[in-house]
Amino acid sequence: MQTFLMCEPRHYEVNYVINPWMAGNEGCVDKVLAARQWQTLYDVLAARATIRLIEPVAGLPDMVFTANGGLVYRDREVIVSSFRHTERQPESQHFGKYFTDNGYRVRRLDGGVRFEGAGDALYDVQGRLWFGYGHRSDAKAGVELARILGGSVIALELADPRWYHLDTAFCPLANGHVLAYAPAFSRDSVGQIRAAFGERVIWATDADAHNFVCNAVNIGADVILHRASDALKAALYRHGCNVIELDMSEFMKAGGSCKCLTLAL
Ligand code: ARG
Repeated sequence: MQTFLMCEPRHYEVNYVINPWMAGNEGCVDKVLAARQWQTLYDVLAARATIRLIEPVAGLPDMVFTANGGLVYRDREVIVSSFRHTERQPESQHFGKYFTDNGYRVRRLDGGVRFEGAGDALYDVQGRLWFGYGHRSDAKAGVELARILGGSVIALELADPRWYHLDTAFCPLANGHVLAYAPAFSRDSVGQIRAAFGERVIWATDADAHNFVCNAVNIGADVILHRASDALKAALYRHGCNVIELDMSEFMKAGGSCKCLTLAL
């Protein structure tokens, strides 16, 4: 049984702009609808996994995106994030406290290296860690991760500011496939994805990517996401996946969807 950390959207809103999706959405979140959407995601996940909650903090609206709190890389061992933007930097201390209070060994990367947790670091079924840099996390964080984890870390360069975290454009699936959006990456990085997954890459179209299909939570056969085209659903079904669509409109105003609202513990 998987375990995820989530954070209720009690203080969620869009009141600053740190990614292109947030522009024009300040003050535009329907908070009642956001609460309902979050609760639906919670219920769907809770039927399939264990959910733990971190207390939301007033003034930290993006704390709902727990994927950015850190990277749990071993049982009870976590690297807590060092956020790029001042708006999110105070979250680090709250996530750090949560993990300390819950018996985790907490580490942070040295020397001001930016690292935004599981938003930029995703494991595939083979245990390889895929790391995204260029907008939020520093390339150097990948080197540090490899040193700490002692395993293979594959660094991918994110080339377009709309796909600012790796988990907006790359989603390794439990069946060994990966769902990915090529225009988010530099040419070399697209090559690395191809080389590693071969025929097992499901490339998202522009329209699907804009519906945040790569920001999916995969539990067993279930792929939980905002919305997918019939063609993508058919492709996923062919590979044994069952798509569950949940409206995440209010969180997409901040540039996030299902996966960002969870952190795998
Ligand atoms: N507004 C948040 C930010 O820009 C959204 C974070 C989404 N998280 C993610 N893992 N993609 O930081």
